[in-house]
Amino acid sequence: MDSADNCLSVDQVRADIPLTKEYIYFDNAATTPVPLPVIRKMEEYLREYCANIERGAYSIANRVTEEWDKARNDVARLLLKCDPKNLIFTRNLTQATNIIAYALGNPPLTVENRRLKSKNPLINWRKGDEIVTTIVEHHSNILPWMRLAYYKKAVFKIIKNLPKTGLITTEAVLENISSKTRVLAFQHASNVFGTVNDVKSIIKAVKEVNPDCLIYVDGSQGPGHMPVDVEDLGCDFYGFSGHKGPLGPAGTGGLYVKKDIIDELEPFELGGGIIVDVTEDYYELRRDYPAKKFDAGSPNILGLIGLGEAARYVSRIGLKRIHERERNLTGYLLSEISKIKGVEIYGPVESELKTGVVTFNLKGWSSHDLCLALDEKWRILTRAGYHCAMPAIRWLGVDEAYKGNVRISFHYYNTFDEIAKAVEALKQLAS
Ligand code: ALA
Repeated sequence: MDSADNCLSVDQVRADIPLTKEYIYFDNAATTPVPLPVIRKMEEYLREYCANIERGAYSIANRVTEEWDKARNDVARLLLKCDPKNLIFTRNLTQATNIIAYALGNPPLTVENRRLKSKNPLINWRKGDEIVTTIVEHHSNILPWMRLAYYKKAVFKIIKNLPKTGLITTEAVLENISSKTRVLAFQHASNVFGTVNDVKSIIKAVKEVNPDCLIYVDGSQGPGHMPVDVEDLGCDFYGFSGHKGPLGPAGTGGLYVKKDIIDELEPFELGGGIIVDVTEDYYELRRDYPAKKFDAGSPNILGLIGLGEAARYVSRIGLKRIHERERNLTGYLLSEISKIKGVEIYGPVESELKTGVVTFNLKGWSSHDLCLALDEKWRILTRAGYHCAMPAIRWLGVDEAYKGNVRISFHYYNTFDEIAKAVEALKQLAS
């Protein structure tokens, strides 16, 4: 819903986020505030139909299952434009990456003659196989792959021949891909540089060289900040967190898996709610709804119903509008802070290459102390340090001098006036 008449205005969204009255909240890349309609939806669940999903036969059990399915449908269609049957609900992006790393290291099991039996794994690991990621990833898109490479004796390659703006270029990726590359994992947008990568072109180029290379996209800074169409991007897997872009609660997220692959993945967690039969010798997982095979145990019903409402909420603002506004805010901040003496800016300076993330340092201040000073005197909340991306910060060379950098990250509800206040504060601290 992008027609201006029906869209939620900045003032309406600010009214839904009470925190904006007290603080200038600039840490949206870490966690976004949750707007009141999303909180009310979760309260509705707790008050009116607080039962388990897909288990009970009574009326509120049916109601909660309907709400649960609606949440998955809306998150899939509004945030990723995919079939809900291919959207696994997760705790966050980290869990999404771990689900895939586990599944690529372990064969799916089936039942034969009333016994468990391994099917062919999705990847038949051979000596010299490669897992490739990039130096600008955050830890959640590095560690699970490093461990998988260790277990499978694969070569773990990190793409480093990137420009210092942090942009992942097709050329750099192609230089690191070969017929032995089994997995490529990279980010949609950077939480350190704010770069938005041309994911579609990169994937197309890689698949031309190696059609069998499986591609995982880390969408931590994507859905909720910008329109995303995972099928159009052409990735095999796309993970995201509900509390970073979509204005949902923490403890929620999602993982898209391509249609012909999802049936070939063994879930990382097993338990109740995902089976058609269990005996003393074997278990048989449900096949009616591929993504639900990953819902072992009682899930975070409260949070995921909240995420469904959050998907509807950001759609009422309009994802294109959110992206455009974040870029405009970014452009304004970049032009103003670049005038302050002693400020060093990282990432591209062209706002059209970016999402709403700006990182910088101020000469004479450690990133941590600067962040504390902004909060103490002006209630301006930024993030300082390594942004869960130590290799990226070391590669950038701001580890020793500044212990990382300071990050200002936006969402739609932030204002130009808030930026002007932050710029004024930085000017005072610089003098
Ligand atoms: N990766 C998260 C951030 O960028 C935690 O803040």
